[in-house]
Amino acid sequence: MSMTIEALLTPAEYQARRATGFAGEVCVVFDVLRATSVIVTGLAQGAKGFIPAEEISGAVALRAKHPGALLAGERGGLRINAKQSGGVEFDLGNSPLEFTASRVADKFIICTTTNGTRALRACETAEALVVSSFLNLSATALWLQSRGVERVALVCAGTGEAASLEDILCAGALCDLLLKSGQANMLQDSAEVAIRVFQSAQDDLLGAMRHASNARRLLENPKLQDDVEFCLRLDAFGMVGLMGRDGIVRPA
Ligand code: MLT
Repeated sequence: MSMTIEALLTPAEYQARRATGFAGEVCVVFDVLRATSVIVTGLAQGAKGFIPAEEISGAVALRAKHPGALLAGERGGLRINAKQSGGVEFDLGNSPLEFTASRVADKFIICTTTNGTRALRACETAEALVVSSFLNLSATALWLQSRGVERVALVCAGTGEAASLEDILCAGALCDLLLKSGQANMLQDSAEVAIRVFQSAQDDLLGAMRHASNARRLLENPKLQDDVEFCLRLDAFGMVGLMGRDGIVRPA
């Protein structure tokens, strides 16, 4: 079985592909800092599922349909407050360290973030949509292998409208794993860019974060700085999240 991998390195690329759709492709979405790391952590702590919404208003509207669900997310990195949402105080922000079993087990979580939830929604026409991060990188590779996936798009959520280093590093780390295990045999140039970036930084990923604007923003905030190291923990969890046709991400 052969696997071809492409990488969508910027929001403009995945938004353009949203228009044409991802038929026949499996999308693996990365928002290392922090949306996909949060989803993976929350699912590993026993959350029933995450429901990503692009806008704050959409998240609030979804809660009317899922009354027991928690509301989570950020704007500018900080938990969404009543002023931003038209009166609803969000239960959680977007720090993986908040998503403990005591807060999230057995709950659905409606989340909205600046880029991560936008990237997830943009890929909803994919054959399958895998939520990935450094926290579940090997589990992601194993899932792709077990399904005999042939065409993979690695989708980097980015920061605002720009590419983000941490997402490209993680996409490159997955390419590296898939190549070494003999699963992937065809990298498009975009995936080649990602793997080469990863190989140049793999010995000191935390050090590389000094060059990542998203990481610098978190490191400057004493309440959020620990998120960066946490989100770089390789294979902390052995599961993947899959977004179903109903738009809910559940453990595979
Ligand atoms: C995003 O979706 O853009 C990020 O998760 C932002 C953040 O965590 O601050």
